Formats: sequence, structure tokens, C-alpha cells
Amino acid sequence: MITFDRENEVFYLNTDRTTYAMGVWNGEKLFHRYWGKRLVNRLGKTDLNDCVWRPHVADLGDNSSDVLPFEYSTYGNADMRFPSAEFTFADGSRVSNLTYKGYEITDGKPALDGLPSTYCEVGDKVQTLTVHLEDALQNVEVVLSYSVFEQLDAITRNVKIINNGERLLLDSAMSATVDFYGSPERELLHLDGSWARERHITRQPITPGNQSVNSRYGCSSSFHNPFIALCDKNADEKHGNVYAFNLVYSGNFTAGVERNPYNGVRAYIGINPTNFQFVLEKGDSFQTPEAVLVYSANGLGEMSRIYHKLYRTRLCRGKYRDSERFVLVNNWEATYFDFNEDKIVEIAERASKVGIDTMVLDDGWFSSRISDDNGLGDWYENRDRLPNGLEGLAKRINALGMRFGLWFEPEMVNPGTELFKNHPDWIIHTKGRKPSLNRHQYTLDYSRDDVCDYIIDTLSGILSRANIEYVKWDMNRCMSEPGSAFWDGAHQGEVMHRYILGLYRVLETITSRFPNVLFESCAGGGARFDAGMLYYMPQTWTSDDSDAVERLKIQYGTSMAYPFSSMGAHVSAVPNHQVGRITSFDMRCNVAMMGQFGFELDLNKCTDAELETAEQAIKTYRKLGEVFHKGDCHRLRSPFESDICAIEFVSEDKNTVILTVNCSKPMPSAPDEYILLEGLDETAVYTVEGTDRRFGGDYLMNVGWHYVNNADSKTEMTVFKKV
Ligand code: DGJ
Repeated sequence: MITFDRENEVFYLNTDRTTYAMGVWNGEKLFHRYWGKRLVNRLGKTDLNDCVWRPHVADLGDNSSDVLPFEYSTYGNADMRFPSAEFTFADGSRVSNLTYKGYEITDGKPALDGLPSTYCEVGDKVQTLTVHLEDALQNVEVVLSYSVFEQLDAITRNVKIINNGERLLLDSAMSATVDFYGSPERELLHLDGSWARERHITRQPITPGNQSVNSRYGCSSSFHNPFIALCDKNADEKHGNVYAFNLVYSGNFTAGVERNPYNGVRAYIGINPTNFQFVLEKGDSFQTPEAVLVYSANGLGEMSRIYHKLYRTRLCRGKYRDSERFVLVNNWEATYFDFNEDKIVEIAERASKVGIDTMVLDDGWFSSRISDDNGLGDWYENRDRLPNGLEGLAKRINALGMRFGLWFEPEMVNPGTELFKNHPDWIIHTKGRKPSLNRHQYTLDYSRDDVCDYIIDTLSGILSRANIEYVKWDMNRCMSEPGSAFWDGAHQGEVMHRYILGLYRVLETITSRFPNVLFESCAGGGARFDAGMLYYMPQTWTSDDSDAVERLKIQYGTSMAYPFSSMGAHVSAVPNHQVGRITSFDMRCNVAMMGQFGFELDLNKCTDAELETAEQAIKTYRKLGEVFHKGDCHRLRSPFESDICAIEFVSEDKNTVILTVNCSKPMPSAPDEYILLEGLDETAVYTVEGTDRRFGGDYLMNVGWHYVNNADSKTEMTVFKKV
């Protein structure tokens, strides 16, 4: 696990398959030494000749430390690269320089104060190393923490900065930086998109200079995701080195790489330094979010499986981490704002007959909310629509044998509401500047405790009085004119981070107060699909794009870092509301079923054949959901590279295998395709469920499953059972 070789002064962080090593140089500096496949041999003593790629220019006494692999490097010394942290000190100086002071190794993993993080349970092989660095002149301590999940093959990092000196300003603090020794052939993979097109895979060469993805939107955003991977140029799903970084954080982030003239690459991930500045008085400290680092020697597939298992079992929490979740119908695309109690019950009645167990009432149930320009903040029922209130509606839904779920957007306020009239100062804004509206709304200032307490009380009241068993927590705008009326001028640079801390406090309080409620997060679709939110809510609405073909790409890209068990996925009506495409009901079910299965349409408008398909699909999902959500996922064909998307799921006990193949458009005289399965027992025989066909595991992995992409909306879900 974690060891310190005293003779050579090298730290080893070993998981089952990987090693991460750091060395102390001259009793003084902490250098990154190695990250990759588990080392068999020990490293020698850290000296400049074997730990830098240009030993002839590296000299700590000279001005050439710009090529040294610092484990955590601050601004102002001779390392000119992207700094791990930056300070402005009381004397006006911005220069800092960290030296090594000592370390501790402990069993287990402490929680992070006020921030989400992965955790361990009794019996897990997890240890934590804390390394202490210090800027002696300014009396600042920097504590680097590394937790090693031995069996899960992941390492987490976070940093705590403690000011023991005069008041200082913390201008930036990355959660992790890693210096790679000369790696020009690597590529940078990240997940980008937009509203309704989230987390498409982008891969680009690492060129000289700085390349990064960022959010300054106040949330992790649909435009970029706090995830990057450095991959060998030829790395694919099964082969090649991959070094991945994911931030457990839901606010502004930066993640990127800087390549220097000598082909050394520094990777970094952390809170975005733009509009970030924390005041640390003497004795104050700052805690960065956690970064989760995963290395795979066997391509992107293995990297994703490591993240999936870690997040599914040691990031998500609560009752619904392991227990079966709900099959729901949501009225949003069925009615938008045009509904009343009877209409919702009508949708639920039909839904219950095909086996749907939860009716979710979306936006528009409260105060003056009859369109998207008013009502947010005034959280009481609109009695014209719901004459019997939420309690009455919930009772009618429960009488159908269904659960009742409800939509909220608790971080927002519309200007026409009582809440805004009573508390115009409760919004994110900058004094003297007109706050911009976005979707006609302002963002509530969650950096303030009074605002957070008000929201906790308001939501708790509603969740206590009606039988609400599911909550969709939405957030539909990015933040502009960031600032707060509560904090004085010196602390305005803290507001964006304090907002996220406030949000986490609200979520922690509400989710622990209502442990039986299943919470799903959402942000204008999937604009806050990140590991931070998954700590509080085990599933996220993946995208407002419910078109089955578009969803293939969105879900495939999302699965790079996040498990299918975390992806809300619904069957919606055709022509699809976002892109106008018509796909078969079968295909819509097969694509949605890989995630947290649900429906987003009025089933009263479906044909008998569609209702029959829905009923069958729900039965199949109840039988196979565990395999999609707890099994190993193998991405076999990428929808970004061809018209075929093939994803395979292998159950935990390895006895059941599901192969899903969906095509985005057919080809005339299509060629024969053979899709090679993965992760099977090559000595075993598998039967194809519902047929008398039998295949050897070796055959399926070496010859493959025959497929012809010759029909529109072609969709296959094949279940193999080990004999
Ligand atoms: C955005 C969400 O992504 C949708 O599913 C829906 O809940 C709307 N907001 C409601 O305003």
C-alpha cells in the first residue's frame, strides 16, 4: 500500500496494479518520481540526474528548476510553469517556495470538511499519506494528502493550505498537479458539448504550451466536464497507457496540461483561478476539493471501469447506492407547463398499468409558475392547478400503487416573486451593476448562511408534509456578475467557492434529513454531471436531449468517467422534441434502459404495440438492471467513430452478459460486422437467452457477434447466459 523507503527517501503508493512514487531530494524538495504500472524494483535515491529529462540544465541553485518534476509547485521561484498554488502575502510579495518537512501514513481516509469525497468502509484496503511542505519565510504550511484505494486501483488527492503567518491571499490552489517526464506522443481527452449535447469525446494532441478545459459558469457546466485523460497516441478501449484526473467538485474548475520546450508535461486540475481569491487570516486554512487519479495500462475501458466501481460504491451514498431505484414517468415533455391535477393523475394511471412505479411532477406546480418567467422562489402550490395541494395529489398517485416525486429549482428566484421582493439582496450580484437575467431568473446567493437556511427550511417543510419519495433538483442558469451583498469587498473572490460550499451544506442537510427520498440532480439537462453532485444524489439527469440517437453519444461520452447507474435516461415521444428525429419505440427503450430507466411522455398517446413494448421493457429492466448498473461495462463500438454503438455489460458474477447494439443510421447493402465481446470466460459456453443458440466465450471474443446495420433504428439487446 503506502510505504516510505527511508534509505532512498521515496514514497510508494501502490494499488493492486499501479504505483505512484515521490522522492525527497536532498531532504528539501518533494519531486514526482513515477506514476504508472506497478513497479517491481525500487527507485534509487532522488537525484537530479535520474528524475529529470534534461539533467544538464536542471540545477536547483541555478535558475533552471523550470524542468524539475515538483510534486506541488508554487509561483515565483525559477519554475515558470503552471503553478500548483499562488499567494499574495501581506508584504505584497507573490513569491513562494515550498520545502519538505515530514509525513504521516494512516489507515483509512478522512472526510473533507464541507466537501464531497470518496470514502472507505470497514474491510477496505485504504491508506492515507499526508506530506507536509512549508514556505518558511511566510510561515505557510501546505499539506498534500493522498489516499490509496488498493483494490479499486485509484488514488485520490487533496491539498490543505494553512496560514501560520500574517494575513495572506490565496490566489489559486490546484487539487493535483503531476509532472510527466517527456511524453510528446500523448493526447489529451476531454468531454465537451453544450445544452442537449453534453460530454462528447474530444481528443487532441498535446502541443507545446497550455491547453485546458474550464468552467467559469458557476457550475461544472455542459460545455466542459472536470475530467481529463492523458492517453498514449494509439491508446484505445483496450490498449495503451491512460492517466486520468477527475475533480469531485461542482463549481468553476480548470483542468489541463502544459507542455514545455523539452516535452515535459505538467497536468493540473482544481478550482478555476479566475475570480478566485481567498483571504486567510493567521490560523485560517483552505481545503481544496478532491481529485481522483486513475491510471490504466489497458486503455480507456479499464480506466472507466475503475471510475465506475469507485463512484458507484465509494462516492455515492445512502439507501439508493445499492438498492433498486425507481422506474419513473416525468410529465415535462408530456405537458410542459400545461397541466392540472387530473391531467397528472391521468398520465400516472396509464403509466402504472405498464409497470411504472413513480410519477414525477416537473416544473410549474407552484405559485405563479405557468411559464418559465415567474414563480421560482415562492414554493407553495398553485391551487388552480393543484386544488388539493401536493398532499392531495400525492394521495391520488399513491392510491394507484405509485410513488410521487417532485421537481424543485431551489437555487433560483424570479424577479416577480415575493421572495425576491422581500430579499432583493439574496441574489448573486455585484454592487452597482445590473444583474443579468438568464431564463428570466437570478441565482440565489448560497454563499450566505441565511439563504441556505431558508432553503433548507422551505424544502424540509414541503418534503415533510406531502408523501414525496423522489426529488429532481434542477438548476437552470449560469452565474454572472458574481458577487455577494453579504461579504465585504475583501472577500468577493471567495463567493463562487462559498456558493458551492453552501450548496453542499444544503444538500448534506436535506439528503440526510430525508434518507428515504431518492434525489436526482439536474441542471438544464446535464450541466452539473460531476462527482461532487453524485456524493449527495446517486443519479443525474444526463441531458435534456432524449433522442435515442443523440443519447448514444451523450451516454457513451458520460461513461468515460461516470457509471451508467448514475445516468437518468428516459423514453420520450417522437418526433423527438429536441431534434425532430423519429426512432422506434424499441430503440428508445433499449437506449434508456442502460441508465436509470424512465419515461418522459404521456403513455395515453402511445399505440397498443408501444404500450406492450414499454411493459416488456420494464420487465426486462427489472430483471437485468443490476447487470447494467453493477456489472462491468465494455464499450465495443463508438458512436463517435461509426454509425454503430455497441456496449456490453458483464454481471458481477460473470454469468450474465448483455450486448446492446444500436445504429444511428442504416447503410444500403451494409457489410457484415463482427462485434468482438470482452470480459467473458473463454473456456465457458454461453447460450443466447430466448433461443437455442450456443457460443463459446472464446468464439464470441475472437470471432464476434454478427451484426448488419441494415435498418433504420436498428436496435438489439442480446442476453448471454453462461452454461
Ligand atoms: C430543465 C430540465 O433539464 C428539464 O428536464 C425540466 O425539468 C426543465 N428544466 C423544467 O424547467
